[in-house]
Amino acid sequence: RFLVVRTVAELRERLLPARLAGERIGFVPTMGALHDGHLELIRGAAAENGEVVVSIFVNPTQFNDPADLASYPRTEERDVELARSAGATAVFAPSAGEMYPAGFSTSVHVTGVTERWEGASRGAAHFDGVAVVVTKLLSAVGADTAYFGQKDAQQVAVVRRFATDLNLPTRIRSLPTVRDADGLALSSRNVRLSADDREAALSLSRSLAGARRRVTEGETDTAVLAAEASRILSDAGASVEYWAVVDPVTFEPLDAIVPGTLAIVAARVGDVRLIDNAVLSDD
Ligand code: PAJ
Repeated sequence: RFLVVRTVAELRERLLPARLAGERIGFVPTMGALHDGHLELIRGAAAENGEVVVSIFVNPTQFNDPADLASYPRTEERDVELARSAGATAVFAPSAGEMYPAGFSTSVHVTGVTERWEGASRGAAHFDGVAVVVTKLLSAVGADTAYFGQKDAQQVAVVRRFATDLNLPTRIRSLPTVRDADGLALSSRNVRLSADDREAALSLSRSLAGARRRVTEGETDTAVLAAEASRILSDAGASVEYWAVVDPVTFEPLDAIVPGTLAIVAARVGDVRLIDNAVLSDD
């Protein structure tokens, strides 16, 4: 039953029987180079759906740096096997030409939630690229539910925004960040960290855990939290791009902490850019 398809037409044909039978369809969009973070999304989707489509597409429009796009790991054969063993029933691996045919002229631009943090650091084109490709993928798959990682919290907020605004029928679910035993959030970029850099990289999750603890102790001043967190990062030798306390829906900075408030961080360790986030107060 498992099949790798390359075109939207083949994908729709593959899913038609499931659709007619009223089976639930789950969808996990990825850019490949799969690790356990991706595989948890696939396992989560497999637990709730009869069909699980995984897309593997290194989306050129969301890269601001051509060198970054060129060096993005492409390990399709391995990814297909990993996806299948985690519970995928189909892999959609389109070419760039299939996704962006000649004459492609449409954009999906989300204001507000895209403007700060990742949007500012990586350039406005980044979330435009994510929004257009995820819109196209959701439209091609027609899933009941699509699964995203909380690791990219702002991306989830952006996807929820345009899915609501455009009446996309797919439900958007976000699943918890998968971490190594020491707390480092899994990322395809972690393999580029030297042993020393890895130690420094732990300061991201440590800064978030520290802030959570300070909030339980009663600290309510977000400026104090940010100052303490930046200190943890710089002491470890990471260079902070941002560390902020934000509303989980709008990604506007907050002065006061309410349930669901997120702390988000981006920092560079050596030449590797890392991000992480945590909910500061659960109840
Ligand atoms: P990619 O970076 O391949 O990530 C695919 C999905 O895996 C995203 O939803 C991401 O948040 C999730 N993910 C990555 N690391 C994770 C971790 N440690 N724990 C849990 N989930 C994790 O994000 C993209 O691709 C692209 O922007 C995409 C949505 C596919 C559009 O091109």
